[in-house]
Amino acid sequence: MAQILDGLKISNEIKQEIKTEVDKIKASGKRIPHLSAILVGNNGASKAYVNSKVKDCAEVGFESSLYKFPSTASEAELLEKIEELNNDPNVDGFIVQLPLPKQMDQEKIIMAINPRKDVDGFHPENFGRMALEMDTFLPATPFGILTLLERYNIETKGKHCVIIGRSRIVGRPMSILMGRKDFPGNSTVTLTHSYTPHIEEFTKNADIVITALGDPHFLKGEMIKDGAVVIDVGITRVEDNTEKGYHLAGDVDFDSCAEKASWITPVPGGVGPMTRAMLMKNTLLAYKHTIY
Ligand code: GUN
Repeated sequence: MAQILDGLKISNEIKQEIKTEVDKIKASGKRIPHLSAILVGNNGASKAYVNSKVKDCAEVGFESSLYKFPSTASEAELLEKIEELNNDPNVDGFIVQLPLPKQMDQEKIIMAINPRKDVDGFHPENFGRMALEMDTFLPATPFGILTLLERYNIETKGKHCVIIGRSRIVGRPMSILMGRKDFPGNSTVTLTHSYTPHIEEFTKNADIVITALGDPHFLKGEMIKDGAVVIDVGITRVEDNTEKGYHLAGDVDFDSCAEKASWITPVPGGVGPMTRAMLMKNTLLAYKHTIY
């Protein structure tokens, strides 16, 4: 039976470490770290994510501000707000919650963010720095996965890591990070996606499988090898009869995979809370100017 990679526990430890630093900053009378978020439109998941980010800020002692725009907002309005935040000395970092409405050019919006305040690590400059192994803001989900592997001392060197999904937020940066020369990297990486035939031919040979495709229970026990490390990034809302009206389902068929894996992340309580904690970490790094 697999052991659990407890993202909830590790994320609480990280938030506590951040809070301890913030308490010291407060005690010294200095300005405290401030994260801003921009939310456009009415996507339920996006609203929930942004609200959690605001809550996390309060928990670690950061200031936060949230700017909401209707889905009909223009690109120009959004760019104006970004410029304002770029120039606000009291804002250390900010995020534009994705996805954006169709009328907006996502790349143009991301390019407008000052890379030094880009705590999501989505700006091409930061993405390039990541690929070149320079100091940068790592995207929160990949950063969270790396930190989870690191804190559980999971060996990645010389391992075969198979990633499912090539999104700009998870799969693609993860594929770069796992192959980097620093710990926990040095893996041989296979990046699979929607055009990969017979994905199981790859996952069966993987020491580490990272799934980020958004297809509930896609990865079955028969698709992995004995002793594999299984990381589930999927969080799909599946409608049900509960009061909330939905539950969150991962990409991993937990029961069948847990029988064969050595380590596995649960959903919820795995990668999700790690992602949230790493955004707080990046905001603290932005505040301290340890990267730029
Ligand atoms: N949408 C889904 N995940 C993320 C994230 O980490 N950051 C932003 N800005 N949008 C997202």
